[in-house]
Amino acid sequence: MSHRPSAQPLPSSVQAPSSSAQAPSSSAQAPSSSGAVAPVATDAIAYRLVRGAGIGALQAVRRPRRAPGPGELRIGIRAVALNHRDLMFADGRSGQGGPAIVPASDAAGVVLEAGPGVTLFRPGDRVISSFFPDWLAGPVTTAATARALGGSVDGVLAEEVVSPETAWVPAPAHLDPVEAATLPCAGLTAWHALFELDPLPPGATVALLGTGGVSVWALQLAKAAGLRVILTSSDDGKLERARTLGADFTVNYRRVPAWGAVLRELAGGEGVDRVLDVGGPVTLAQSVTALRPGGSVAVVGRLGGGEPAALDPAALFLGGKRLLGLMVGSRAMALRFSRFVETAGLRPVIDRVFPFDRAGDAYRSLAASRHLGKVVIAAGEG
Ligand SMILES: NC(=O)c1ccc[n+]([C@@H]2O[C@H](COP(=O)([O-])OP(=O)(O)OC[C@H]3O[C@@H](n4cnc5c(N)ncnc54)[C@H](OP(=O)(O)O)[C@@H]3O)[C@@H](O)[C@H]2O)c1
Repeated sequence: MSHRPSAQPLPSSVQAPSSSAQAPSSSAQAPSSSGAVAPVATDAIAYRLVRGAGIGALQAVRRPRRAPGPGELRIGIRAVALNHRDLMFADGRSGQGGPAIVPASDAAGVVLEAGPGVTLFRPGDRVISSFFPDWLAGPVTTAATARALGGSVDGVLAEEVVSPETAWVPAPAHLDPVEAATLPCAGLTAWHALFELDPLPPGATVALLGTGGVSVWALQLAKAAGLRVILTSSDDGKLERARTLGADFTVNYRRVPAWGAVLRELAGGEGVDRVLDVGGPVTLAQSVTALRPGGSVAVVGRLGGGEPAALDPAALFLGGKRLLGLMVGSRAMALRFSRFVETAGLRPVIDRVFPFDRAGDAYRSLAASRHLGKVVIAAGEG
């Protein structure tokens, strides 16, 4: 399946800052289909954005291609998937100011060139980005998560990226780049919430809130692993679509504000084993209500705003319920997740694909919240 939009002209806003007007390294070369080594063109396009400056401030600039150093890969980016977090970066909900960086975390690409000492990949390999480039394995630490793509360091909304080989993961072989680009943040967060933290066994019941990127990935993973799914949405059309994707029960959270008790009943009266909570302040209390004794809420997001959530401690300790906070995941988790997706033959749900020169429109489409699944920007060739 291919999701590539038709070829589009380069952005009219492309600028060539004087600092980037220099020749690339003579060693920046790409293999041609005949196996001969051809020199690469001078510059590659990358978007840049200052945190909180707004989607309208997204700017495409030319920057010189760079050859990979020891242990590094030069990646040709083929697709970039957007996440709600990218809207928060753009509109200032995650802070304001700082230097302009390359936004976005989730890319699929192809290895164009491997630097000296690279052992994990070869030119031509298809890869996806690792959200926290320094969190390779083991438990979460401050150091491992200090650098996050498109948040605290340059991300992937670019034609090319050069970074350490350990910041990349093999893409599932059956996915095209648009599909593969949805794994690094939304997909891995859903995987982590269901199968890394206190893994849910087949037959367990999970509740998923809304039909955004994380929740729809969780729906697909849950059904592939034999879980029962109750999904909520504000939109009856989306609920219908969720049922075709395998949701066992659906509830419109707009029409049923006290949906926690309804979910508990749908799960047989005791409650659900886990809620993947993306709403935060506006959903957490209902999520806890939906749990069975001993159940847990994977606390992932705050789509409902930045205010603290009001939660009666008794709602947790009576019934021994737990809150499990989590951040995306490590490279080791991403490897397990990518293998599962490949083995199960899963294909993520893509809502819309935008060409590279319409990245701003892709952001605006995500912000409109009419999507079900993922909004993706296609980049590069093939
Ligand atoms: N902790 C982490 O590491 C991590 C990782 C990834 C994402 N997140 C967070 O998780 C959240 C979801 O991210 P995403 O990228 O999946 O977002 P998204 O694709 O933009 O999801 C938007 C959808 O969420 C649903 N929604 C909005 N408000 C809701 C509410 N009050 N109750 C239930 N559903 C609601 C809506 O679905 P309907 O239209 O169907 O109602 C909406 O279309 C965000 O807060 C994000 O920052 C955190």
